[in-house]
Amino acid sequence: MRQDSNAYIIGFATAVCLVCSIVVSTSAVALRERQDRNKVLDRQTQVLVVAGLLEEGQNVSPEDVESLFDEHIQIRVINLETGGYEDSIESSTYDQRKATKDPSASRAAPANNAGLTRLPDNALVYQRVEDDAVQSLILPIEGKGLWSTLYGFIALAPDTTTIQGITFYEHGETPGLGGEVDNPTWKALWVGRQAYDSDWAPAIEVIKGAAGPVAEDPYRVDGLSGSTLTARGVTNLVQFWLGENGFDPYLERLRAEGSGS
Ligand SMILES: Cc1cc2nc3c(=O)[nH]c(=O)nc-3n(C[C@H](O)[C@H](O)[C@H](O)COP(=O)(O)O)c2cc1C
Repeated sequence: MRQDSNAYIIGFATAVCLVCSIVVSTSAVALRERQDRNKVLDRQTQVLVVAGLLEEGQNVSPEDVESLFDEHIQIRVINLETGGYEDSIESSTYDQRKATKDPSASRAAPANNAGLTRLPDNALVYQRVEDDAVQSLILPIEGKGLWSTLYGFIALAPDTTTIQGITFYEHGETPGLGGEVDNPTWKALWVGRQAYDSDWAPAIEVIKGAAGPVAEDPYRVDGLSGSTLTARGVTNLVQFWLGENGFDPYLERLRAEGSGS
């Protein structure tokens, strides 16, 4: 067959497409398990960082992450509305994001500023436990920024209000602008501030401009310059998850029990 004939060109192009699609689909299938494991590892690393068990950017092996996580972190499932534990649900395999999309495991979210349309019936909480005492309550948070939904964690001390850390493990905000939510210097500004005011209403907010020191300005965090909309999104989502439709029923239970256990 002549190399410049239509049949040759079409045949050649089809063969190249076939080979490429086989290579792409084989690698997608072969790598899926590794990708899933890396996702879990990343989530575990973020929980360890926000709980103060790992330094930001610290170089640790996957095995060390897993053993640190198993040693110090307990995962519990709670009923969001009642705030009670749902120990019949296997916490290690419960997928909160999947449940949020499943009509049989979620409900329509009430009107909110965090851009949330559905809420899972049950949510994960991570507890850092040392010598049988809870040292940190690590709560998953999510909500709309400017361009994307931000997913992360906020860690509270057992008093349920002192912030120990915040982190976002997934978002699509602009690097250098809204993406500065990942800046360790900015995240450090949250540590020691108060999530709730003296009436237990969610109070922490990202302001425009600079906040004062923790002791004098406990409810405010510096804004992100040029990123007012992402910063507003962070305030809205954090306040939502601290509120009555988020983790407040759970935290209220802990306060009533007088402990984080
Ligand atoms: C290409 C581009 C990307 C932007 N990305 C963000 C962003 O990720 N987050 C954000 O809040 N604002 C972003 N902005 C800026 C917003 O459009 C808006 O001007 C800004 O939030 C106002 O913040 P300021 O009052 O601090 O200047 C972006 C603007 C441009 C042109």
